Amino acid sequence: MSAPVLTEFLAGPDDLSVWPASTARLPHGHLSVGGVSLADIADRFDTPAYVLDEEEVRARCRTYRAAFPDADVLYAAKAFLSRAMARWIEEEGLGLDVCSAGELELAVTAGFPPARMVLHGNAKSPRDIETALRLGVGRIVVDSPSEIARIAALVDPGERQKVMVRVVPGVSAGGHQKIRTGTDDQKFGLSPTDGSAQRAIAQVLGQSRLELTGLHCHIGSQITDVEPYLVATRRMVGLMARIKDTHDVTFTELDMGGGHGVAYRPGEPSLDLTTLARRMGGELSASCAAAGLPVPRLTVEPGRAVAAPAGVTLYRVLAVKHTGTTMFVAVDGGMSDNPRPALYGARYAPRLIGRPSTAEPVTATVVGRHCEAGDVLANDVLLPDDVHAGDLLAVPMAGAYQLSMASAYNLVGRPPVIAVHEGAARLLVRRETQDDFRRRDVGV
Ligand code: LLP
Repeated sequence: MSAPVLTEFLAGPDDLSVWPASTARLPHGHLSVGGVSLADIADRFDTPAYVLDEEEVRARCRTYRAAFPDADVLYAAKAFLSRAMARWIEEEGLGLDVCSAGELELAVTAGFPPARMVLHGNAKSPRDIETALRLGVGRIVVDSPSEIARIAALVDPGERQKVMVRVVPGVSAGGHQKIRTGTDDQKFGLSPTDGSAQRAIAQVLGQSRLELTGLHCHIGSQITDVEPYLVATRRMVGLMARIKDTHDVTFTELDMGGGHGVAYRPGEPSLDLTTLARRMGGELSASCAAAGLPVPRLTVEPGRAVAAPAGVTLYRVLAVKHTGTTMFVAVDGGMSDNPRPALYGARYAPRLIGRPSTAEPVTATVVGRHCEAGDVLANDVLLPDDVHAGDLLAVPMAGAYQLSMASAYNLVGRPPVIAVHEGAARLLVRRETQDDFRRRDVGV
């Protein structure tokens, strides 16, 4: 990993390297994405709003297909899902990783073929399992011993459901402790160290209505280094070899999960997909050759790396306040539309749009409108000294784990999602309104 750098200072506040490729500078301080002026979107759809560049999503899918021509690429729906998104993913030839009946059913209503879906979850509800079997998902990933019999019991007589077993390969990786899933001290997967993975595998092999196609792992999220994936690959093949010895079963599939890291601010490292594909593929072939196993078909499950770079959040500045040495710029959204800074200490690079400014850049803290001090969207960022109420701020890298993690905190209402494509903007998900809150509140 490269050393941390004061990226804003090195790159300058006008750096567009983490913006969608279609981003263009327009006269008078305006920016467009997908051929649409962001200020026009703010006027038409109000703020806060998420903007999603359809072509950026599609291009990222194509980059994955090109980097992993012989693998299955599943988009992890938890990063962001809407019916349009499901359609783009389907049209670009990717599969879908879902982790609830909700994600599964929404994608199916958009016409996504269930056979190209994989269902995950450390605690699958009866409805998750029933929906997956009824709609015919391609694979179910077993994450705990108790669900093996529950899944098998719901499979129709004469049918076989393909499943995988989620294994914890003992690799620590990821951008924050809360999103590291490769070691034994967290809730996901089954460990080969204490034998629970082997026991679950034996249990699945004993179920005539389940067909075990292979093993799965997901070591963490926002990983910017290839090395942890290579170690995990080696260990997964090691376990496959032990299973072959014990049960004489050869797996035809290996799912190495997602977690591919992106740069949220200019100058930050990201995971290079071509390098990942080449080195992980090389490691898989070499480890299998050494173990005398045929090379299984590889699956990868990127979420963030497909969606995050396609999104931009638009906010209106509501207040600017100087407290001590800090300039607080308060906007009309906050932790309800982006809980990531509060949860993971995530850093973003907002910028002023919609008017020119020649004022000196100064260090500012962009905060939300919610009633708690932890509602900070971006610490220590550079904004022009003359930023004032009514200004528009835009935050790139907003396409993943923002709307999907948004809340109704303070009943502010979740922002709409507006797709931009070839010069046109269209509403994908409407804004959550007072009416929505009133309708859910049925208990007077
Ligand atoms: N596959 C599995 C089984 C997963 O659990 C996840 C993410 C992915 C794939 C996709 O990971 P990605 O490529 O997006 O890193 N809310 C956190 C991230 C949580 C990730 C959970 N699992 C955040 O905002 O950083």
